[in-house]
Amino acid sequence: MTSRSGILNIMEHSITPRHVAIIMDGNGRWAKKRLLPRTAGHSVGSEVFRKIAEYLGTIPGVEYLTVYAFSTENWSRPADEVKEIMRLLDHYMDTAMKSLIEKNIRLHFLGDLSVFDDKLRAKMEKLHEMSEHTTGLHVNVAVNYGGRDEITNAIRSMAKEGMDLTAVTQEDITSHLYTAGQPDPDLLIRPGGEKRLSNFLLWQLSYAEFYFTDVLWPDFSEKEIDEAIVWFAGRKRRYGNVK
Ligand code: IPE
Ligand code: IPE
Ligand code: MG
Repeated sequence: MTSRSGILNIMEHSITPRHVAIIMDGNGRWAKKRLLPRTAGHSVGSEVFRKIAEYLGTIPGVEYLTVYAFSTENWSRPADEVKEIMRLLDHYMDTAMKSLIEKNIRLHFLGDLSVFDDKLRAKMEKLHEMSEHTTGLHVNVAVNYGGRDEITNAIRSMAKEGMDLTAVTQEDITSHLYTAGQPDPDLLIRPGGEKRLSNFLLWQLSYAEFYFTDVLWPDFSEKEIDEAIVWFAGRKRRYGNVK
């Protein structure tokens, strides 16, 4: 007979998504609706990120969160907006990120970080090191991240290591991605109404469940996370099988 704690264990470890990925979209439209500059949306959006990361850290069974903060394509935006996003990122390194670590969260930055100036990169590395010994939720912040860029870089790394590329396996590719060593996302959440990937985690999302909502990211709350997680629990994941 399965004990009560056994059932809870099943609930926590098979129905709850172990890895949640979020495309934090809709900041600009949120601001525009309020006749504010787009950057005001980014500012509120970054606070929402902190709140949601903290909340996911309290849900049993959720071990990883990956958020899309800035894509390789976002550099094409007006210079002022890009500058403000970079300023917010830098500011966040000093304040909110540290408070996340105090909440036992492990931080990791995904993407081609070589484009950032030395100071910003050093902060990212320091935060990663500072949080290496924490035991809570793993939070990946994707900055200057592009799925195609990541796969291209993985192939380049394998070539540089002198691997025989004619014999490359899926595991080899997986272990050369920015997410090496982490499980694939189970649930992808995209607020903001668009139903597309926008170059996010192309390899890793192969069998994720996709949850879309019109709620804009700055309006996102614990309630939306609960709704997505309940929706996820009702999914039948078949992985190509017929059961
Ligand atoms: C997402 O919000 C944040 C970034 C891409 C940096 P947007 O800025 O894309 O907001 P919308 O989609 O224009 O409303
Ligand atoms: C995706 O949003 C990138 C991030 C949220 C960081 P975008 O707003 O850049 O995506 P598109 O342009 O609508 O596809
Ligand atoms: Mg957008």
